Amino acid sequence: MDELISLAREALKRAYAPYSNFKVAAVVKTKTGVYTGVNVENASYGLTMCAERVAIFKAVSEGDRDVETVVVYTDTEEPTPPCGACRQVIAEFNKDATIVMACRGKATTAKLSQLLPMAFAGERLRS
Ligand code: THU
Repeated sequence: MDELISLAREALKRAYAPYSNFKVAAVVKTKTGVYTGVNVENASYGLTMCAERVAIFKAVSEGDRDVETVVVYTDTEEPTPPCGACRQVIAEFNKDATIVMACRGKATTAKLSQLLPMAFAGERLRS
């Protein structure tokens, strides 16, 4: 896990957050690969994309959907939990993914099912 957190800390330098100045990095670990992401903001604020979704979309667009772990890293005193939209996007690929929230000097871990109970999912569209 330390390796994934180090990778996220390194990726944080690439966050593009000139408006909020709140830099976020994410690392998605799948069964076979590792993908980084950072938040990418826009002058049209609503177009901003979170770090977690960038990393998930990178994995999926490379054909890799077997999400196991998502690390969220911020250079803050307290860990940053993923936003609701990112929880929903992670749930699409693994409702029970491990979410590691890491910051300066500490990390906390939760299951996505704890962070997003009763998730809306594709099965519900077919019932
Ligand atoms: N942000 C993320 O990248 N991930 C989250 O889960 C929460 C928020 C970003 C979006 C925006 O660039 C900045 O943090 C402030 O909201």
